[in-house]
Amino acid sequence: MGGECGMGEQQNPFRTGGIARGHRFADREREVARIGQGLREAGGKLLVYGPRRMGKTSAIARALDLEQARGGTVARADLSTLSSLADMADVVLREVTRAVAAGKGFDDFLAEILKRVNIGFSVKQDASTGVPIPQVDVSMRSKPLEEQKLAVGEVFDAIDGMAAEHGIVIGLVLDEFQEIHRFEENFSEWNLRHIIEQHENVGYVLAGSKRSLIDRMLEADGAFYRMFDKLTVGPIAEDYLVPWMEERLAPLGDGAGEASERIVALAGERTHDRMRLARHTWFRAQQAGRSGRGAVDHAFAGLVEEDADEFLRQWVHLTVPQQNVLRAVSMKVKGLSTADTLQRFALKNSPTAVQAAQVLVERELLFQRPGEKGYFFDNPYFEAWVRERTAIDLGMEPPE
Ligand SMILES: Nc1ncnc2c1ncn2[C@@H]1O[C@H](COP(=O)(O)OP(=O)(O)OP(=O)(O)O)[C@@H](O)[C@H]1O
Ligand SMILES: [Mg+2]
Repeated sequence: MGGECGMGEQQNPFRTGGIARGHRFADREREVARIGQGLREAGGKLLVYGPRRMGKTSAIARALDLEQARGGTVARADLSTLSSLADMADVVLREVTRAVAAGKGFDDFLAEILKRVNIGFSVKQDASTGVPIPQVDVSMRSKPLEEQKLAVGEVFDAIDGMAAEHGIVIGLVLDEFQEIHRFEENFSEWNLRHIIEQHENVGYVLAGSKRSLIDRMLEADGAFYRMFDKLTVGPIAEDYLVPWMEERLAPLGDGAGEASERIVALAGERTHDRMRLARHTWFRAQQAGRSGRGAVDHAFAGLVEEDADEFLRQWVHLTVPQQNVLRAVSMKVKGLSTADTLQRFALKNSPTAVQAAQVLVERELLFQRPGEKGYFFDNPYFEAWVRERTAIDLGMEPPE
Protein backbone atom coordinates (compact mmCIF):
# COMPACT_ATOMS: atom_id res chain seq x y z
CA MET A 1 0.00 0.00 0.00
CA GLY A 2 1.24 3.50 -0.77
CA GLY A 3 1.96 6.31 1.65
CA GLU A 4 3.07 4.15 4.53
CA CYS A 5 6.83 4.31 4.39
CA GLY A 6 8.09 7.61 5.84
CA MET A 7 8.67 7.83 9.59
CA GLY A 8 6.56 10.25 11.57
CA GLU A 9 3.45 10.31 9.41
CA GLN A 10 3.06 6.56 9.27
CA GLN A 11 -0.36 5.00 9.27
CA ASN A 12 -1.02 2.46 11.95
CA PRO A 13 -0.61 -0.91 10.20
CA PHE A 14 -3.10 -2.63 12.50
CA ARG A 15 -6.76 -2.02 12.31
CA THR A 16 -9.69 -2.75 14.57
CA GLY A 17 -13.29 -2.09 13.91
CA GLY A 18 -14.54 -2.51 10.39
CA ILE A 19 -12.85 -4.85 7.99
CA ALA A 20 -9.12 -5.46 7.62
CA ARG A 21 -7.97 -5.08 4.01
CA GLY A 22 -4.80 -4.93 1.97
CA HIS A 23 -1.56 -4.72 3.92
CA ARG A 24 -3.53 -4.90 7.17
CA PHE A 25 -5.05 -8.25 6.33
CA ALA A 26 -3.17 -11.27 7.67
CA ASP A 27 -3.16 -14.87 6.54
CA ARG A 28 -6.43 -16.75 5.86
CA GLU A 29 -5.41 -18.01 2.45
CA ARG A 30 -7.13 -21.33 2.89
CA GLU A 31 -10.33 -19.80 4.27
CA VAL A 32 -10.50 -17.10 1.60
CA ALA A 33 -10.04 -19.68 -1.15
CA ARG A 34 -12.74 -21.93 0.26
CA ILE A 35 -15.21 -19.06 0.67
CA GLY A 36 -14.51 -17.92 -2.90
CA GLN A 37 -15.22 -21.42 -4.12
CA GLY A 38 -18.50 -21.41 -2.22
CA LEU A 39 -19.52 -18.11 -3.80
CA ARG A 40 -18.79 -19.37 -7.31
CA GLU A 41 -20.46 -22.72 -6.95
CA ALA A 42 -23.92 -22.95 -8.48
CA GLY A 43 -26.13 -24.42 -5.76
CA GLY A 44 -23.24 -24.27 -3.29
CA LYS A 45 -23.99 -24.20 0.42
CA LEU A 46 -21.16 -23.37 2.79
CA LEU A 47 -21.38 -22.67 6.47
CA VAL A 48 -18.58 -20.61 7.99
CA TYR A 49 -18.28 -21.01 11.71
CA GLY A 50 -15.92 -19.27 14.10
CA PRO A 51 -15.94 -17.75 17.57
CA ARG A 52 -16.68 -14.07 17.93
CA ARG A 53 -14.03 -11.59 16.79
CA MET A 54 -12.01 -14.33 15.10
CA GLY A 55 -12.10 -12.76 11.66
CA LYS A 56 -14.97 -14.39 9.77
CA THR A 57 -16.31 -11.18 8.27
CA SER A 58 -12.82 -10.02 7.27
CA ALA A 59 -12.05 -13.31 5.51
CA ILE A 60 -15.43 -13.15 3.79
CA ALA A 61 -14.82 -9.55 2.72
CA ARG A 62 -11.49 -10.56 1.21
CA ALA A 63 -13.13 -13.36 -0.73
CA LEU A 64 -15.87 -11.01 -1.93
CA ASP A 65 -13.29 -8.45 -3.10
CA LEU A 66 -11.42 -11.10 -5.06
CA GLU A 67 -14.56 -12.51 -6.64
CA GLN A 68 -15.76 -9.07 -7.56
CA ALA A 69 -12.41 -8.25 -9.14
CA ARG A 70 -12.88 -11.36 -11.28
CA GLY A 71 -16.21 -10.02 -12.48
CA GLY A 72 -18.34 -12.16 -10.20
CA THR A 73 -21.68 -11.06 -8.81
CA VAL A 74 -21.30 -11.42 -5.06
CA ALA A 75 -23.07 -9.83 -2.11
CA ARG A 76 -23.00 -9.87 1.67
CA ALA A 77 -26.12 -9.30 3.72
CA ASP A 78 -25.42 -8.58 7.38
CA LEU A 79 -28.26 -10.01 9.40
CA SER A 80 -26.87 -9.06 12.81
CA THR A 81 -29.23 -6.12 13.35
CA LEU A 82 -32.50 -7.54 12.04
CA SER A 83 -35.56 -6.64 13.99
CA SER A 84 -38.10 -8.01 11.56
CA LEU A 85 -38.31 -10.45 8.68
CA ALA A 86 -39.07 -7.49 6.41
CA ASP A 87 -35.61 -6.19 7.33
CA MET A 88 -34.14 -9.43 6.04
CA ALA A 89 -35.94 -9.10 2.71
CA ASP A 90 -34.76 -5.51 2.55
CA VAL A 91 -31.08 -6.06 3.27
CA VAL A 92 -30.79 -9.04 0.91
CA LEU A 93 -32.53 -7.18 -1.90
CA ARG A 94 -30.42 -4.08 -1.40
CA GLU A 95 -27.08 -5.86 -1.28
CA VAL A 96 -27.81 -8.04 -4.31
CA THR A 97 -28.85 -4.94 -6.24
CA ARG A 98 -25.51 -3.35 -5.40
CA ALA A 99 -23.67 -6.50 -6.38
CA VAL A 100 -25.40 -6.77 -9.72
CA ALA A 101 -24.64 -3.12 -10.47
CA ALA A 102 -20.97 -3.65 -9.58
CA GLY A 103 -20.65 -6.96 -11.41
CA LYS A 104 -20.96 -7.83 -15.07
CA GLY A 105 -24.26 -9.59 -14.51
CA PHE A 106 -27.05 -7.78 -16.31
CA ASP A 107 -28.54 -4.36 -16.72
CA ASP A 108 -32.08 -3.75 -15.75
CA PHE A 109 -32.07 -5.51 -12.44
CA LEU A 110 -34.76 -3.37 -10.89
CA ALA A 111 -37.23 -3.94 -13.69
CA GLU A 112 -36.63 -7.66 -13.37
CA ILE A 113 -37.09 -7.57 -9.63
CA LEU A 114 -40.38 -5.74 -10.11
CA LYS A 115 -41.60 -8.53 -12.34
CA ARG A 116 -40.67 -11.20 -9.85
CA VAL A 117 -41.82 -9.96 -6.46
CA ASN A 118 -45.11 -8.63 -5.17
CA ILE A 119 -43.82 -6.74 -2.17
CA GLY A 120 -43.99 -2.97 -2.19
CA PHE A 121 -40.78 -0.98 -2.31
CA SER A 122 -39.51 2.43 -3.23
CA VAL A 123 -36.29 3.27 -5.04
CA LYS A 124 -33.51 5.43 -3.65
CA GLN A 125 -30.36 6.58 -5.37
CA ASP A 126 -27.26 5.24 -3.64
CA ALA A 127 -25.38 8.32 -2.42
CA SER A 128 -21.88 7.28 -3.53
CA THR A 129 -22.50 5.21 -6.67
CA GLY A 130 -25.76 6.69 -7.97
CA VAL A 131 -27.11 3.18 -8.38
CA PRO A 132 -30.88 2.96 -7.83
CA ILE A 133 -31.45 0.83 -4.73
CA PRO A 134 -34.80 -0.71 -3.79
CA GLN A 135 -36.06 -0.22 -0.29
CA VAL A 136 -38.83 -2.45 1.00
CA ASP A 137 -41.75 -0.38 2.27
CA VAL A 138 -41.48 0.36 5.97
CA SER A 139 -45.11 -0.67 6.41
CA MET A 140 -43.97 -4.22 5.63
CA ARG A 141 -42.34 -4.44 9.05
CA SER A 142 -45.68 -4.38 10.85
CA LYS A 143 -47.48 -6.72 8.46
CA PRO A 144 -48.51 -10.19 9.69
CA LEU A 145 -45.54 -12.50 9.97
CA GLU A 146 -46.92 -14.89 7.37
CA GLU A 147 -46.77 -12.09 4.84
CA GLN A 148 -43.24 -11.12 5.82
CA LYS A 149 -42.19 -14.72 5.52
CA LEU A 150 -43.55 -14.84 1.99
CA ALA A 151 -41.65 -11.66 1.18
CA VAL A 152 -38.37 -13.22 2.27
CA GLY A 153 -39.09 -16.29 0.14
CA GLU A 154 -39.98 -14.13 -2.85
CA VAL A 155 -36.74 -12.19 -2.63
CA PHE A 156 -34.54 -15.28 -2.47
CA ASP A 157 -36.49 -17.01 -5.25
CA ALA A 158 -36.24 -13.91 -7.43
CA ILE A 159 -32.46 -13.83 -7.01
CA ASP A 160 -32.13 -17.46 -7.99
CA GLY A 161 -34.53 -17.01 -10.89
CA MET A 162 -32.65 -14.05 -12.29
CA ALA A 163 -29.30 -15.75 -11.97
CA ALA A 164 -30.74 -18.71 -13.89
CA GLU A 165 -32.18 -16.51 -16.61
CA HIS A 166 -28.87 -14.75 -17.18
CA GLY A 167 -26.77 -17.85 -16.86
CA ILE A 168 -24.69 -16.56 -13.97
CA VAL A 169 -24.06 -17.61 -10.41
CA ILE A 170 -24.83 -15.08 -7.69
CA GLY A 171 -22.71 -15.52 -4.58
CA LEU A 172 -24.64 -14.51 -1.50
CA VAL A 173 -23.27 -14.32 2.04
CA LEU A 174 -25.69 -14.25 4.95
CA ASP A 175 -23.50 -12.99 7.79
CA GLU A 176 -24.71 -13.64 11.36
CA PHE A 177 -27.53 -15.71 9.89
CA GLN A 178 -28.22 -17.26 13.31
CA GLU A 179 -30.11 -14.07 14.16
CA ILE A 180 -33.12 -15.49 12.34
CA HIS A 181 -33.53 -17.40 15.57
CA ARG A 182 -35.09 -14.27 16.97
CA PHE A 183 -38.16 -15.05 14.90
CA GLU A 184 -38.34 -18.66 15.93
CA GLU A 185 -41.74 -20.31 15.53
CA ASN A 186 -42.41 -17.83 12.74
CA PHE A 187 -39.22 -18.21 10.82
CA SER A 188 -36.39 -20.54 11.60
CA GLU A 189 -33.51 -22.22 9.91
CA TRP A 190 -36.08 -24.76 8.63
CA ASN A 191 -37.80 -22.04 6.65
CA LEU A 192 -34.45 -20.88 5.36
CA ARG A 193 -33.63 -24.42 4.37
CA HIS A 194 -36.85 -24.86 2.43
CA ILE A 195 -36.27 -21.59 0.61
CA ILE A 196 -32.68 -22.11 -0.40
CA GLU A 197 -32.38 -25.86 -0.86
CA GLN A 198 -33.89 -25.73 -4.36
CA HIS A 199 -31.73 -22.88 -5.55
CA GLU A 200 -29.22 -24.09 -8.10
CA ASN A 201 -27.95 -20.71 -9.30
CA VAL A 202 -26.88 -19.11 -6.08
CA GLY A 203 -23.74 -19.91 -4.08
CA TYR A 204 -24.79 -19.49 -0.48
CA VAL A 205 -22.30 -18.79 2.28
CA LEU A 206 -23.77 -18.59 5.75
CA ALA A 207 -21.62 -17.31 8.60
CA GLY A 208 -22.22 -17.28 12.33
CA SER A 209 -20.62 -17.45 15.72
CA LYS A 210 -22.99 -19.26 18.09
CA ARG A 211 -21.42 -22.67 18.22
CA SER A 212 -24.18 -24.46 20.12
CA LEU A 213 -26.83 -23.20 17.72
CA ILE A 214 -24.86 -24.07 14.64
CA ASP A 215 -23.87 -27.52 15.87
CA ARG A 216 -27.53 -28.24 16.53
CA MET A 217 -28.48 -27.20 13.00
CA LEU A 218 -25.90 -29.58 11.55
CA GLU A 219 -26.95 -32.60 13.64
CA ALA A 220 -28.93 -35.48 12.18
CA ASP A 221 -32.27 -33.97 13.14
CA GLY A 222 -31.17 -30.37 12.52
CA ALA A 223 -32.31 -28.19 9.64
CA PHE A 224 -28.97 -28.10 7.87
CA TYR A 225 -28.10 -31.76 8.17
CA ARG A 226 -26.15 -32.85 5.09
CA MET A 227 -26.98 -29.62 3.36
CA PHE A 228 -23.91 -27.56 4.18
CA ASP A 229 -20.20 -27.94 3.91
CA LYS A 230 -18.53 -26.49 6.97
CA LEU A 231 -15.52 -24.22 7.24
CA THR A 232 -14.10 -23.33 10.65
CA VAL A 233 -12.31 -20.03 11.16
CA GLY A 234 -9.91 -20.53 14.06
CA PRO A 235 -6.99 -18.56 15.46
CA ILE A 236 -4.28 -17.36 13.08
CA ALA A 237 -1.23 -19.60 13.67
CA GLU A 238 1.30 -17.98 16.01
CA ASP A 239 4.26 -18.83 13.82
CA TYR A 240 2.59 -16.85 11.05
CA LEU A 241 1.30 -13.98 13.15
CA VAL A 242 4.37 -13.19 15.26
CA PRO A 243 6.64 -12.44 12.27
CA TRP A 244 3.75 -10.68 10.51
CA MET A 245 3.40 -8.31 13.45
CA GLU A 246 7.14 -7.97 13.90
CA GLU A 247 7.54 -6.80 10.32
CA ARG A 248 4.93 -4.11 10.90
CA LEU A 249 6.31 -2.97 14.26
CA ALA A 250 9.95 -3.02 13.15
CA PRO A 251 10.10 0.50 11.63
CA LEU A 252 9.35 1.97 15.05
CA GLY A 253 12.44 0.80 16.89
CA ASP A 254 14.02 -2.07 18.78
CA GLY A 255 12.22 -4.97 20.34
CA ALA A 256 9.62 -5.63 17.64
CA GLY A 257 10.15 -9.39 17.91
CA GLU A 258 9.67 -9.63 21.64
CA ALA A 259 6.73 -7.22 21.39
CA SER A 260 4.98 -9.41 18.84
CA GLU A 261 5.44 -12.48 21.00
CA ARG A 262 4.12 -10.62 24.00
CA ILE A 263 1.05 -9.43 22.09
CA VAL A 264 0.12 -12.95 21.15
CA ALA A 265 0.77 -14.17 24.70
CA LEU A 266 -1.42 -11.53 26.33
CA ALA A 267 -4.29 -11.04 23.91
CA GLY A 268 -5.68 -14.57 23.66
CA GLU A 269 -6.72 -16.23 20.39
CA ARG A 270 -9.21 -13.87 18.85
CA THR A 271 -7.83 -11.89 15.96
CA HIS A 272 -9.62 -8.73 16.95
CA ASP A 273 -8.16 -8.76 20.48
CA ARG A 274 -4.67 -9.34 19.10
CA MET A 275 -4.92 -6.60 16.48
CA ARG A 276 -6.30 -4.20 19.03
CA LEU A 277 -3.32 -4.72 21.29
CA ALA A 278 -0.93 -4.44 18.36
CA ARG A 279 -2.60 -1.23 17.23
CA HIS A 280 -2.31 0.29 20.68
CA THR A 281 1.28 -0.89 21.08
CA TRP A 282 2.13 0.74 17.77
CA PHE A 283 0.80 4.09 18.98
CA ARG A 284 2.85 3.79 22.17
CA ALA A 285 5.95 2.66 20.37
CA GLN A 286 5.66 5.55 17.97
CA GLN A 287 5.80 7.92 20.92
CA ALA A 288 8.57 6.09 22.76
CA GLY A 289 10.69 4.91 19.83
CA ARG A 290 10.82 1.44 21.30
CA SER A 291 8.38 -1.36 20.79
CA GLY A 292 9.55 -3.97 23.28
CA ARG A 293 7.66 -6.02 25.81
CA GLY A 294 7.20 -3.00 28.09
CA ALA A 295 5.28 -1.10 25.43
CA VAL A 296 2.94 -4.07 25.04
CA ASP A 297 2.33 -4.38 28.78
CA HIS A 298 1.54 -0.69 28.99
CA ALA A 299 -0.75 -0.86 26.02
CA PHE A 300 -2.57 -3.84 27.50
CA ALA A 301 -3.08 -2.08 30.82
CA GLY A 302 -4.29 0.98 28.93
CA LEU A 303 -6.92 -1.06 27.09
CA VAL A 304 -8.15 -2.67 30.31
CA GLU A 305 -8.48 0.82 31.72
CA GLU A 306 -10.28 2.04 28.61
CA ASP A 307 -12.98 -0.61 29.00
CA ALA A 308 -13.18 -0.48 32.82
CA ASP A 309 -16.54 1.34 32.93
CA GLU A 310 -18.08 -1.19 30.60
CA PHE A 311 -16.67 -4.09 32.67
CA LEU A 312 -18.05 -2.61 35.87
CA ARG A 313 -21.47 -2.28 34.25
CA GLN A 314 -21.43 -5.96 33.33
CA TRP A 315 -20.08 -6.97 36.71
CA VAL A 316 -22.83 -5.36 38.81
CA HIS A 317 -25.47 -7.26 36.85
CA LEU A 318 -24.01 -10.61 37.81
CA THR A 319 -25.08 -12.73 40.77
CA VAL A 320 -22.62 -13.32 43.58
CA PRO A 321 -21.89 -16.93 42.54
CA GLN A 322 -21.34 -15.75 38.94
CA GLN A 323 -18.90 -13.12 40.14
CA ASN A 324 -17.09 -15.68 42.22
CA VAL A 325 -16.86 -18.09 39.31
CA LEU A 326 -15.31 -15.33 37.20
CA ARG A 327 -12.84 -14.60 39.98
CA ALA A 328 -11.87 -18.26 40.15
CA VAL A 329 -11.50 -18.61 36.37
CA SER A 330 -9.44 -15.40 36.21
CA MET A 331 -7.03 -16.92 38.76
CA LYS A 332 -6.67 -19.98 36.52
CA VAL A 333 -7.83 -22.50 39.13
CA LYS A 334 -7.33 -26.17 38.28
CA GLY A 335 -10.98 -27.17 38.70
CA LEU A 336 -14.05 -25.13 39.49
CA SER A 337 -15.60 -27.79 41.71
CA THR A 338 -12.64 -28.81 43.81
CA ALA A 339 -13.03 -28.33 47.56
CA ASP A 340 -10.15 -25.88 47.54
CA THR A 341 -11.67 -23.65 44.82
CA LEU A 342 -15.15 -23.73 46.37
CA GLN A 343 -13.71 -22.69 49.68
CA ARG A 344 -11.33 -20.03 48.40
CA PHE A 345 -13.94 -18.33 46.23
CA ALA A 346 -16.90 -18.65 48.61
CA LEU A 347 -18.87 -20.90 46.28
CA LYS A 348 -21.46 -22.86 48.23
CA ASN A 349 -21.14 -26.18 46.46
CA SER A 350 -20.25 -27.71 43.15
CA PRO A 351 -23.74 -27.48 41.51
CA THR A 352 -23.88 -23.77 42.38
CA ALA A 353 -20.51 -23.20 40.72
CA VAL A 354 -21.32 -25.25 37.62
CA GLN A 355 -24.70 -23.66 37.16
CA ALA A 356 -23.25 -20.16 37.44
CA ALA A 357 -20.54 -21.09 34.94
CA GLN A 358 -23.16 -22.38 32.49
CA VAL A 359 -25.05 -19.09 32.62
CA LEU A 360 -21.80 -17.24 31.98
CA VAL A 361 -21.22 -19.46 28.94
CA GLU A 362 -24.70 -18.70 27.62
CA ARG A 363 -24.02 -15.02 28.06
CA GLU A 364 -20.74 -15.45 26.21
CA LEU A 365 -18.57 -14.17 29.05
CA LEU A 366 -16.96 -17.58 29.34
CA PHE A 367 -16.54 -20.37 26.83
CA GLN A 368 -15.52 -24.00 26.86
CA ARG A 369 -13.22 -25.72 24.44
CA PRO A 370 -14.55 -28.87 22.81
CA GLY A 371 -13.01 -31.92 24.43
CA GLU A 372 -11.33 -29.87 27.15
CA LYS A 373 -12.19 -29.37 30.78
CA GLY A 374 -12.59 -26.00 32.37
CA TYR A 375 -13.78 -22.55 31.39
CA PHE A 376 -12.08 -19.66 29.65
CA PHE A 377 -12.76 -15.94 29.42
CA ASP A 378 -14.17 -14.76 26.14
CA ASN A 379 -12.43 -11.41 26.55
CA PRO A 380 -8.80 -11.27 27.75
CA TYR A 381 -9.16 -7.62 28.82
CA PHE A 382 -12.15 -8.44 31.00
CA GLU A 383 -10.23 -11.35 32.45
CA ALA A 384 -7.37 -9.04 33.42
CA TRP A 385 -9.81 -6.59 34.98
CA VAL A 386 -11.43 -9.31 37.08
CA ARG A 387 -8.07 -10.75 38.07
CA GLU A 388 -6.79 -7.39 39.20
CA ARG A 389 -9.79 -6.87 41.44
CA THR A 390 -9.66 -10.39 42.79
CA ALA A 391 -6.04 -9.92 43.70
CA ILE A 392 -6.91 -6.73 45.56
CA ASP A 393 -10.12 -7.98 47.23
CA LEU A 394 -8.95 -11.42 48.23
CA GLY A 395 -5.28 -10.64 48.71
CA MET A 396 -4.19 -13.28 46.23
CA GLU A 397 -1.11 -13.34 44.06
CA PRO A 398 -2.13 -13.13 40.40
CA PRO A 399 -1.04 -16.14 38.30
CA GLU A 400 1.59 -15.46 35.65
N1 LIG B 1 -7.07 -11.64 8.78
C1 LIG B 1 -7.04 -10.52 9.51
N2 LIG B 1 -5.98 -9.70 9.47
C2 LIG B 1 -5.94 -8.57 10.21
N3 LIG B 1 -6.92 -8.19 11.05
C3 LIG B 1 -8.00 -8.97 11.14
C4 LIG B 1 -8.12 -10.16 10.37
N4 LIG B 1 -9.29 -10.74 10.69
C5 LIG B 1 -9.88 -9.94 11.60
N5 LIG B 1 -9.12 -8.88 11.87
C6 LIG B 1 -9.42 -7.83 12.86
O1 LIG B 1 -10.34 -8.31 13.79
C7 LIG B 1 -11.54 -7.54 13.78
C8 LIG B 1 -12.72 -8.47 13.89
O2 LIG B 1 -12.75 -9.25 12.73
P1 LIG B 1 -14.11 -9.67 12.03
O3 LIG B 1 -15.13 -8.63 12.19
O4 LIG B 1 -13.73 -10.12 10.68
O5 LIG B 1 -14.44 -10.92 12.94
P2 LIG B 1 -15.76 -11.78 13.05
O6 LIG B 1 -15.32 -13.17 13.32
O7 LIG B 1 -16.63 -11.53 11.88
O8 LIG B 1 -16.37 -11.16 14.37
P3 LIG B 1 -17.88 -11.06 14.88
O9 LIG B 1 -18.16 -12.36 15.53
O10 LIG B 1 -17.85 -9.92 15.85
O11 LIG B 1 -18.74 -10.79 13.68
C9 LIG B 1 -11.49 -6.74 12.49
O12 LIG B 1 -12.06 -5.48 12.65
C10 LIG B 1 -10.01 -6.61 12.24
O13 LIG B 1 -9.54 -5.52 12.98
MG1 LIG C 1 -18.56 -10.82 11.70
